[in-house]
Amino acid sequence: MYTVPKLDDYSPEALDRAAADLLRALENESAALHSESDYKLFRDRWLARKNGVLTQVNDTWLKAAPGPAKREVGQRVNALKAHVEAAIEGVHGQIHASSADAKLAAERLDITLPGIQRPIGVRHPVLRVMDEIVAVFQAMGYSVGEGPEVESDYYNFESLNFPPNHPARDTQDTLFIGGQEAKPARERLLLRTHTSPVQIRTMERQPPPVRIVIPGKVHRNDPLDATHSPVFHQVEGLAVDTNITFCDLKGTLDHAMKALFGSSVKTRFYPSFFPFTEPSADMQVSCIFCGGKGCRKCKFSGWIELLGCGMVDPNVFEFVKENGYDSSKISGFAFGMGVERITMLKYEVEEIQLFYEGDVRFLEQFA
Ligand code: PHE
Repeated sequence: MYTVPKLDDYSPEALDRAAADLLRALENESAALHSESDYKLFRDRWLARKNGVLTQVNDTWLKAAPGPAKREVGQRVNALKAHVEAAIEGVHGQIHASSADAKLAAERLDITLPGIQRPIGVRHPVLRVMDEIVAVFQAMGYSVGEGPEVESDYYNFESLNFPPNHPARDTQDTLFIGGQEAKPARERLLLRTHTSPVQIRTMERQPPPVRIVIPGKVHRNDPLDATHSPVFHQVEGLAVDTNITFCDLKGTLDHAMKALFGSSVKTRFYPSFFPFTEPSADMQVSCIFCGGKGCRKCKFSGWIELLGCGMVDPNVFEFVKENGYDSSKISGFAFGMGVERITMLKYEVEEIQLFYEGDVRFLEQFA
């Protein structure tokens, strides 16, 4: 670091050299400044009244100069001071500008960068297929209804012609809400095991004719495996009017299956049993994988069982008789299909769990 030397030679050449040394030191130091705080230390070192470099120049050069040289030294020191002060002021401007530049550079915003893209969600495949099924029936003039997922024994079973303690209740491993022993059996709450209770709820609200589809969530005490889940979705259908026949049921479902799986799909109806329909059937579609020739997926039968259906049992109409459902005058059909099952067939999904795990790698395939 530069210190002001003592002079013993006061010749003009010696004074020039001393001044040149000092200015070189000033230049070197100012070139090494990077920040406002560097600058302040530097300014104080040179300009401080007490022991700043210029004060030292005054003390060691001017005051110590012999009488005859004083005038000459005084003029030079004044010129030097003015020069140094101006130089230091100039350095300040530069430092200030460059630290402002640094700030701007650090805060630089590149408006040409592409924006941050938020992945856009899509409808879940199960809900999408549910919508699709509903839309097929809406196009045939059906309205859409809903009902509660927590249901009473009356709507889920009794009014659907499941007598108390009837073994048919065992086919639906019901999840009951606890702590209701004090209530009469028909008022006890459970998680609905099917969407069929909304059939009765609809008929209580509206006299015939009825054409309605009811999408919704249902619950059963089924252990989770590749094709079963304790929570799944159904779409229920109900049509009641004068002169509704099994033919209407077959035609309606055959049309719906062709709309969902393509016009080459065939349907057939196999005898079955449900307490609330008579006769009852399981509807099968020709295997959508092999076209009916027989493959592993259809267990080499050429057919895949898809839904339960049948003509509304007159015993069910008895529960809503006073609302215009006189089984000697009207008839109807009903059906219920599992949405996951249809989705698995449509998209060849082999594990039902994939629908509920929320794994984006699975779900994004439906985007
Ligand atoms: N509710 C029946 C089930 O879940 C399906 C069904 C609905 C059958 C309507 C006949 C009529 O298995």
